[in-house]
Amino acid sequence: MSTFKAPKGTYDLIPPESADFLAVREALSAPLRRAGYGYTETPGFEQVELFARGVGESTDIVTKEMYTLTTKGGDELALRPEGTASVLRAALEASLHKSGNLPVKLWYSGSYYRYERPQKGRYRHFSQVGAEAIGAEDPALDAELIILAHDAYRSLGLRGFRILLNSLGDKECRPVYRAALQEFLRRLDLDEDTRRRIDINPLRVLDDKRESVQRQLTDAPMMRDHLCEGCKSYHEQVREQLTAADVQYEDDPRLVRGLDYYTRTTFEFVHDGLGSQSAVGGGGRYDGLSEMLGGPPLPSVGWALGVDRTVLALRAEGVELQLPSSTDVFAVPIGEEARRALFRVVTALRREGVAADFAYGGKGMKNAMKSANRSGARYALLAGERDLAESVAQLKDLQSGEQTAVPLDRVVSEVRAKLA
Ligand code: HAM
Repeated sequence: MSTFKAPKGTYDLIPPESADFLAVREALSAPLRRAGYGYTETPGFEQVELFARGVGESTDIVTKEMYTLTTKGGDELALRPEGTASVLRAALEASLHKSGNLPVKLWYSGSYYRYERPQKGRYRHFSQVGAEAIGAEDPALDAELIILAHDAYRSLGLRGFRILLNSLGDKECRPVYRAALQEFLRRLDLDEDTRRRIDINPLRVLDDKRESVQRQLTDAPMMRDHLCEGCKSYHEQVREQLTAADVQYEDDPRLVRGLDYYTRTTFEFVHDGLGSQSAVGGGGRYDGLSEMLGGPPLPSVGWALGVDRTVLALRAEGVELQLPSSTDVFAVPIGEEARRALFRVVTALRREGVAADFAYGGKGMKNAMKSANRSGARYALLAGERDLAESVAQLKDLQSGEQTAVPLDRVVSEVRAKLA
């Protein structure tokens, strides 16, 4: 133990559990790479103003949860609380939208930071895999993203998730609905904070988890009943495409997302084994964000999936990931000369793509065999003086216990044949 601990709301990824995280990141992004999305990386911090404008001045993320700092040069920066604003900023800055090849499809994977009250599944540092399709308005594109997330979860063996789907309307019908909702909410018996929210962000009130509030909302006007013809038909087409792809979803007219940029399609992937932090992923269309950032009109859609919560969901379902073993062969030399000989063999094995490790630190035979077993290797490769005299090593199958002498210069081909 050292004097220091990981900061509150954070945790370290260490072996063996870290292997699951890596596998989840890989699985969540694999469908994107097969669908034309290109890898993107942006800085871990941006100007505060990007998130204030992009995510929304009235959101919890911006008002309460950002890690902000002033640099020695006087810049106001924030650790990124989410990826969409940054990725769109990067696409605009590089003029990717001018290539004439729309939509610009990008995917990303990284760390995000929110100063939230920590609890199971909610951390101050967490990890997302995300995708953004920038510059196209096409129901098939919204459907594509939902299908890709669905297929990613399925490829991991996850079953107990549900897809909640809603439309939040556009700049034509949302303001009308918003006014109707405000009028309804103002007549309710609500506390000071919530009343203030009615003015700034009335849709968020629908998302209030308190029973006392929810009870009064049963007759609240719903966006669904206020969608304009364009939004209604767009949403219908998204739903048709999902059904055609055998992706089941639930219409959730109360689904409101915690970020202000959404228009039309919004969705969330929830898992019932996670308690209150049940959203494993979420996203939607954001047709006005580019203009909010000073760019041209670029209707876009995207999502981000939480890696931490996906791992928790897999555990809740008892899914064991099929991970390739990290070590195939573990070398156990007996004596100095054998150390040199087996170290050469280990290097050769690795160069030929076989995962191999070595008993370092001059351990005795017994300890070295313990390390070999702990490594999860299928084979131990042993050699002592007598073996070297015959230019062989003993290849021991750690599952069956069977042991065969193999000429040193044939170990690599022998092991590769056995592993194939
Ligand atoms: P979000 O819903 O804020 O959306 O986050 C997406 C996912 O990140 C959540 O469903 C959850 O799994 C995970 N997540 C968020 N906060 C935490 C936390 N404190 N601890 C652990 N996991 C967390 C966005 O971030 C949007 N940028 C998604 C998007 C992309 N919309 C359009 N494009």
